[in-house]
Amino acid sequence: MAWARWGCCPWLVLLCALGAWGHPKPVDLTGEDVRNCSISPPYLPVTAVNTTAQLIALRQQMHTQNLSAYIIPETDAHMSEYIGNHDKRRAWITGFTGSAGTAVVIMGKAGLWTDSRYWTQAERQMDCNWELHKEVDIASIVTWLLTEVPAGGSVGFDPFLFSIGMFFPFLHLSTPTRVTQPLW
Ligand SMILES: *[C@@H]1O[C@H](CO)[C@@H](O)[C@H](O)[C@H]1NC(C)=O
Ligand SMILES: *[C@@H]1O[C@H](CO)[C@@H](O)[C@H](O)[C@H]1NC(C)=O
Ligand SMILES: *[C@@H]1O[C@H](CO)[C@@H](O)[C@H](O)[C@H]1NC(C)=O
Repeated sequence: MAWARWGCCPWLVLLCALGAWGHPKPVDLTGEDVRNCSISPPYLPVTAVNTTAQLIALRQQMHTQNLSAYIIPETDAHMSEYIGNHDKRRAWITGFTGSAGTAVVIMGKAGLWTDSRYWTQAERQMDCNWELHKEVDIASIVTWLLTEVPAGGSVGFDPFLFSIGMFFPFLHLSTPTRVTQPLW
């Protein structure tokens, strides 16, 4: 009998149940599996990562280095698209694990720039420390930095994580862009 056979292998039934449970459901952007930062207290789904401690640690380093902003790209020092856990800096600071997206942290705000493939995932994984910018071109990051960073403030980044092509648009910043030691 089929049930008797299932009964022999309760672990298999459990595995199937876990598999069904872990299978990602289609996401409704107005549903409860994405964050809602416009209510008080904010609504955070269980998938959201609390990044408060990471941001405090980074901002302490920024303060020590006198940086107004710090840019964290998605890649590693080989410009890889898929990177080792050790190199997942952007995922560590934001909670967002998608393969494309750039984070920028200033003292009072933090932003993630990513493309439409990842908007829902970002809304599920990020807490309300993060603004989601639904744009990808570096020019929009530069424009944001020009608005947010005070004149004369420094923007820091780890030079090993930037190609010449990625760095070039930042030359439009009137504020000094400072090549720093990796901050962590
Ligand atoms: C957040 O919650 C408010 C109040 O319930 C609602 O009006 C708004 O549409 C929600 N925003 C999102 C992005 O779900
Ligand atoms: C996030 O973590 C910080 C400390 O790391 C804690 O103070 C805060 O309450 C946490 N926030 C939430 C929403 O759990
Ligand atoms: C820190 O940066 C500010 C500009 O934001 C500058 O005026 C100041 O001289 C810098 N301080 C040090 C110690 O480099």
